[in-house]
Amino acid sequence: MMQVKHLTRRFGGLVAVNGVDLEVEEGSLVGLIGPNGAGKTTCFNMLSGVIAPSEGAITFQGKRVDGKKAYQFTQLGIARTFQNIRLFKSLSVLDNVKIACHFNCGYSMFRSFFHGPVFQRKEDEITEHAMEMLKIFKLDHDAHEISTNLAYGEQRRLEIARAMATRPKMLLLDEPAAGMNPTESAELMDLIRFVREKFATTVVLIEHDMKFVMGLCQQILVLDYGTPIAYGNPAEIQANPKVIEAYLGKDEEG
Ligand SMILES: Nc1ncnc2c1ncn2[C@@H]1O[C@H](COP(=O)(O)OP(=O)(O)OP(=O)(O)O)[C@@H](O)[C@H]1O
Ligand SMILES: [Mg+2]
Repeated sequence: MMQVKHLTRRFGGLVAVNGVDLEVEEGSLVGLIGPNGAGKTTCFNMLSGVIAPSEGAITFQGKRVDGKKAYQFTQLGIARTFQNIRLFKSLSVLDNVKIACHFNCGYSMFRSFFHGPVFQRKEDEITEHAMEMLKIFKLDHDAHEISTNLAYGEQRRLEIARAMATRPKMLLLDEPAAGMNPTESAELMDLIRFVREKFATTVVLIEHDMKFVMGLCQQILVLDYGTPIAYGNPAEIQANPKVIEAYLGKDEEG
């Protein structure tokens, strides 16, 4: 589904991501881990078109996509969530999801106010689709609540619901379980498994919660100072001396 070759990003003299190679197979669930500042989010920013790589290539479904804009990545079927939740704070839970649907179907909510039955029908379809997503993420009862009134864990779920509303082929989740209690994060694991199967979505996720990553991902890539130091299944990663050293050296969260 996605091929990444020698992905590199510099910020001035700092090499934030240094020669990352990765193959993401269709339907797989891949984890990206590493200590704070290892370059994980920077990788995601390149994989979703938020920033361009300094070097390297990203191929998605056989086409080169590096250098394209973020909205083009969305159109190609790559959706993401952010480490720092980015919701439209003054909008309702439902409208946060509907807006993502509108971006995806190529006309604005504004225009739909001034048009006739065709637009009304489209609008109804979008509402229905958005509500379906909210139901899956157990947020339908809060559909008309202002998004910032939701608990932190629910806001994280809402961001995923919104990303899924664009019907992505690939979903990138940046620390989806951050700030969740153990019950919430266990439920989130089930939800991610569920949407992956139901919508045949390929998932790549960044997470510091090792129980979460090891329990969910089939393959894991480990970055340290921007450089890939290990790739393998959870058992291989947990037994890898380089990984242990990278974490023990710098990071208590691991
Ligand atoms: N826009 C930027 N300008 C300059 N430096 C940046 C920029 N974005 C990231 N960096 C630097 O690149 C390095 C990697 O940052 P990144 O956010 O990708 O790490 P991360 O692995 O996601 O860390 P965390 O686990 O803390 O989220 C850090 O040293 C960071 O300060
Ligand atoms: Mg990060």
